[in-house]
Amino acid sequence: MELGSLTMNEHASNSVPVLEMRGITKRYSGVTALNNVSFCAYRNEIHALLGANGAGKSTLVKVMCGVIAPDAGEIVLDGKTVRFPNPADAISNGISYVPQELSLVPTMSVCQNILLGQEPTFQNTCSLINEKKLEEIAADTLEMVNLDVDLHQMAGTLPVSAQQMISIATALYRNSKIIILDEPTSSLSSQEIKVLFEIMKKLRDEGYSIIFITHHLEEVFEVADRITILRDSEFQGSFFTQEIDRSRIVSLMTGKSEQLLRRKGLPIDSKVEALRLENVDTERISKGISLNVHKGEVVGLFGQVGAGRTEVLRAIFGADKIKSGQIFISGEKSTINSPIEAIEKGIGFITEDRKNQGLILTMDLLDNTNLGIYERSTKFGLIQPQKIKEITEYFKDVLHIKTASLKTWTKYLSGGNQQKVVLAKWLNHASKILLMDEPTKGIDVGAKQEFYQLINELSKRNVAILLATSEISEAIALSDRIFVFKQGKIVAEVDPEKITEEELMAMTL
Ligand SMILES: Nc1ncnc2c1ncn2[C@@H]1O[C@H](COP(=O)(O)OP(=O)(O)OP(=O)(O)O)[C@@H](O)[C@H]1O
Ligand SMILES: [Mg+2]
Repeated sequence: MELGSLTMNEHASNSVPVLEMRGITKRYSGVTALNNVSFCAYRNEIHALLGANGAGKSTLVKVMCGVIAPDAGEIVLDGKTVRFPNPADAISNGISYVPQELSLVPTMSVCQNILLGQEPTFQNTCSLINEKKLEEIAADTLEMVNLDVDLHQMAGTLPVSAQQMISIATALYRNSKIIILDEPTSSLSSQEIKVLFEIMKKLRDEGYSIIFITHHLEEVFEVADRITILRDSEFQGSFFTQEIDRSRIVSLMTGKSEQLLRRKGLPIDSKVEALRLENVDTERISKGISLNVHKGEVVGLFGQVGAGRTEVLRAIFGADKIKSGQIFISGEKSTINSPIEAIEKGIGFITEDRKNQGLILTMDLLDNTNLGIYERSTKFGLIQPQKIKEITEYFKDVLHIKTASLKTWTKYLSGGNQQKVVLAKWLNHASKILLMDEPTKGIDVGAKQEFYQLINELSKRNVAILLATSEISEAIALSDRIFVFKQGKIVAEVDPEKITEEELMAMTL
């Protein structure tokens, strides 16, 4: 283990950390989530917390903000040892936390969500909420993050990215001195990320301490002053960003050096069309969509968040209505009125919002992986537990899913590992056409490589893949062809071998 280069005394501008965690250990039955981890945050810094899926990042920040009690270790805030029995204690000590998964109350309005638990009341009564003030504060808070939404709209009806921005705004409103952002950028567009980074830098300069979790190393180099790395629940070191490079970070995170990702060019000998859309208008923004994908082909749908890719995938899957236009499956004109019909026609959908749409959180790995296809593992009408176990073990190994056992509820897996379970489910369905919406969101660098190999494997098995991604290197490395989306329309079809990242990005703006 490397202790890193930073000691308290060496920190340039502030020698006393605002927050120090010493020897934090957290165990769950069968899993050690954190083993003797130490961490220091200083004023005036953006501190990136890095590590592979399941390394313990979310657990560490949850200990910081009173969501989880550690089994051992000490938290020192401004020089004093503290304990946070619950999140409210952390908030009142100036620590705010934006969790990894969406956390707004979907059935409450935007304004109610922002001020939940801190509603302004009239001066002479402590229980009557001052609605006008509530709206004013909410409007000001949203202005800080440049978000233009209707304050009275129900939060659950907003796109994922807007919900994420609202959670961030809520943390800002509390005026905390330490703000923890657990993978805040994973559902934001590049424009929104820019806005967020500007806000983070501004707060840093004003003396705040920002702790920032991400799997995107480019973001770390763009915005972080310091970096702490965890691997397998253990501290690997803290570094100033200038003194460490990408390959060193990857090797500390994974224990291996990074391989260059590149999808091996596939000879598609028989160009058999698996799916075609002709002039499809969906209910919302996507208009006049024409595209196709062949068996064994990976077709990228590239664009900014909100450009209409999700809508197109949902329409193909029968989750949204198609207003006009036609869908052909294996050359035959088809109608798909519901997801059940889509699944019957061999279509699988890896959704962007795994928590609500992809998984049953109170079921284990065995059930989630075999959901809806238990009949495949029956004999004379009886379920064969051994067969189900073998299938699940297989996917657990292939995808390196980190879990205490096959019977652990998926609720208890780290975010990236949950995403892998969603993949396992659809791979197990053996779909002929796979729709993937940001499938590597929240997946660490090491697991991404494995996922890329898996895509190759699927394409060799003749699966047709539509891959919606906002990650430019992923779109170029994995796709055989790319359709570029902008404001609900396809603006170009490009050959990834003949285009640079810059050119492709320019088409989406
Ligand atoms: N409530 C829980 N019960 C059992 N195990 C848990 C629980 N919470 C976390 N774990 C386990 O602790 C480990 C660390 O999880 P954590 O969520 O901190 O990872 P992470 O670094 O945030 O990963 P990711 O990048 O995937 O979000 C994982 O193996 C996870 O399965
Ligand atoms: Mg996490």
